[in-house]
Amino acid sequence: MANSSSDRPEAQAVPYQGEPLPNVPEDLVVPNVVSLDFEERLWVPQAPNVWFRPILFNVTQGYFVTLLRVRRSGILSRHRHTGPVHATVIRGKWHYLEHAWWATEGSHAFEPPGDIHTLEVPDGVEEMVTLFHVTGAYIYVDPMGNALGVEDVFSKLATAREHYEKVGLGKNYVDQFIR
Ligand SMILES: [Fe+2]
Repeated sequence: MANSSSDRPEAQAVPYQGEPLPNVPEDLVVPNVVSLDFEERLWVPQAPNVWFRPILFNVTQGYFVTLLRVRRSGILSRHRHTGPVHATVIRGKWHYLEHAWWATEGSHAFEPPGDIHTLEVPDGVEEMVTLFHVTGAYIYVDPMGNALGVEDVFSKLATAREHYEKVGLGKNYVDQFIR
C-alpha cells in the first residue's frame, strides 16, 4: 500500500491472477505500421494514386484508424469533420489551404470537429503516408460548405472488405481489424 503521494503502487513481475472481465474485446496489434513493411495488396485503392491500409475499424465507437498513402500532388479533398481527427505523418508532407501549418514527416496534427479544410499534397512530394485516427465522418463539401458526400468507419470497412475479396484475401480478412 502506498504511504505517500509520490510512491508508486507495487509493480512486481507477476501477471494478473484473476478472472478476465466479461465482454472485453481482444487487443489488436498491427506490426510494421511505421516501416510500412507489409504486402502491397493490403493497400485498398480509394482514388487514382490514393490508397488506405486498415489498422482499426471501431464500429462501436464510430471511428477508424488507417494509413493513407498518396502518390500524386495536388488537391486530395475538401471536407468537414464531425468528430476529432489525429494525424501522424509517416512519409512526405501535406497541408490544408485554410491553415498556415504544415504536416511534415514525423509530426502529429489534431483536427477539431467542425474544421473545414482542403488537403493539398505539394509538388515534389512523390509519396505521402499518414496515420489517421478519424472519429465520426468526413463530409465532403464544395467551397461554400454544401455537402457532396460522406465517409465513415462503415464505408471504409465496406470498401476494404470488397477489395480484400477481390485480391484473394477473402471478404472476412477485414474482420481482424474490427472492434
Ligand atoms: Fe481533415
